[in-house]
Amino acid sequence: MLKKLTVRGFEQGDEKVMVRIHKDSVEKFENLDVDEKFILMLFQRPDFRFFVADNEGGIVGFLGAVFYSSVSRAEVGPVSIAKGYRNSGVGSRLLDDCENFLRTLNIRRVTAKVKYDNNESINFFKKHGFEQEAVFRRYTKDYGDVVQFVKFL
Ligand SMILES: CC(C)(COP(=O)(O)OP(=O)(O)OC[C@H]1O[C@@H](n2cnc3c(N)ncnc32)[C@H](O)[C@@H]1OP(=O)(O)O)[C@@H](O)C(=O)NCCC(=O)NCCS
Repeated sequence: MLKKLTVRGFEQGDEKVMVRIHKDSVEKFENLDVDEKFILMLFQRPDFRFFVADNEGGIVGFLGAVFYSSVSRAEVGPVSIAKGYRNSGVGSRLLDDCENFLRTLNIRRVTAKVKYDNNESINFFKKHGFEQEAVFRRYTKDYGDVVQFVKFL
């Protein structure tokens, strides 16, 4: 149950729960090894930011974004909400905070890539003003199609 939700930056130690949340919906993502090491590696990058949804001490979701300030572009993902907390506004809070952060960097163009059959995620990005701009055929390692969405901040 959602108590008091806050969105904050990643802190070391969060990676354990994040891996668990990710594993819950691993079929929605490209076949990557999202383990603790991978998350910590992304955290070290100066061009990557993780946002974490904290439900009074328990992490219930996260969203990451890579950004290229010099060309005003960013890409959102991965984003994953713990089962049982979906469709309660958690993903929206994370995305709103991420977009606000990107605005402070004068990022103009934000993309998101979604597997073609991931309807909940497609609806989610459309609801937030993203528009489909391309389909990448046989894009994933296992030859799956991917839809790219774009939003101009
Ligand atoms: C997609 C996801 C990140 C959305 O986060 P969320 O916290 O559930 O979404 P919110 O509650 O903030 O927003 C709800 C909106 O998302 C979409 N949505 C969420 N769950 C949905 C579902 N089961 N079916 C259809 N649309 C859904 C709808 O647009 C919904 O708005 P509506 O209720 O007005 O129709 C989340 O469902 C999730 O983690 N899914 C599994 C992992 C995943 O697919 N990640 C994305 C990979 S690209």
